[in-house]
Amino acid sequence: MRNKFTVVGAGNVGATCAQRLAERGYADIVLVDIIEGMPQGKALDILQSGPVIGFDSNVVGTNGYEETAGSDIAIITSGVPRKPGMSRDDLVLTNMNIVKVVTEELVKHSPNCIIIVVANPLDAMAQLVLKVSGFPRNRVIGMSGILDTARFRTFLAQELNVSVEDVAAYVLGGHGDTMIPLTRMATVSGVPITEVLPKETVARIVERTIKGGGEIVALLKTGSAFYAPSAGAVQMVDAIVLDKKQILPCAAYLEGEYGINGVFVGVPVKLGRNGIEEIIEIKLTPEEEAALSKSVDAVRELIEIMKI
Ligand code: NAI
Ligand code: 2OP
Repeated sequence: MRNKFTVVGAGNVGATCAQRLAERGYADIVLVDIIEGMPQGKALDILQSGPVIGFDSNVVGTNGYEETAGSDIAIITSGVPRKPGMSRDDLVLTNMNIVKVVTEELVKHSPNCIIIVVANPLDAMAQLVLKVSGFPRNRVIGMSGILDTARFRTFLAQELNVSVEDVAAYVLGGHGDTMIPLTRMATVSGVPITEVLPKETVARIVERTIKGGGEIVALLKTGSAFYAPSAGAVQMVDAIVLDKKQILPCAAYLEGEYGINGVFVGVPVKLGRNGIEEIIEIKLTPEEEAALSKSVDAVRELIEIMKI
């Protein structure tokens, strides 16, 4: 039997996730949105690309949850995106109401699924999903570190004029202004970037990475990034479904790792069939530890606002 995935929110990120997943051909997809006709129309459109692209995934759109029953993985993208001048944190109260209801419905119909959270503010929304679902922490994972890291890798590769595939890096921390692009661990073909780029250049790239989402919001004027975010969410799905044991930067609920307790924040995790199979603890410098602690404080502030 093919895998079954649900994508909630058929907007920019959700519909692009559905398209990317359908094109992989290893699962059937249910696309859910509150707007009548919209998920149905997008699902039909994606389905009709099958004969051209060459996939047999079934794709259906719906405004309810009956069709989502028995999903293996659900991606939550339902929520309001930023407008120019807004921070991701400005979305917390609006999106918490949406994400709460969506989680309740998903859990009712797919009690064994793994949930990938995309809605912003990411770490706080993941915390809410964990709480509302009652799932173990290995089955609720936030997508943001892959996106932030992809931005960091892109800018480094551009600067060095090399393939993005030659650049390895990690961005840790919350998905916001306190994220931590780990310059010490970024490499180009195994060589630390700190050995091949001047300090000022690295600092400029770090700053651009941190503001990477805002740069796109300012250009688009309506809505936020969705091609790279959907690619990030789908990379997580691949790692889970194909049991890849891949180490990726994701938001995970920490229970003592990195000396942090009871909060979601971005760290490297091993993803496989069971979702998060291991939280990888890398040794941080005192400066990196302090930055991670600051990032956790920012996430905790949002959790306090949500009163969960
Ligand atoms: P969008 O506005 O294009 O799509 C959101 C969709 O959610 C809309 O179609 C809307 O009708 C739907 N929706 C609202 N309430 C719903 C409900 N109760 N049930 C089902 N669907 C509902 O927004 P976009 O660009 O797709 O972004 C979605 C969310 O993902 C935003 O919160 C955005 O900030 C976040 N995001 C997070 C990223 C990350 O790295 N974690 C990256 C990109 C976006
Ligand atoms: C981003 O970083 C909107 O959080 C999203 O592009």
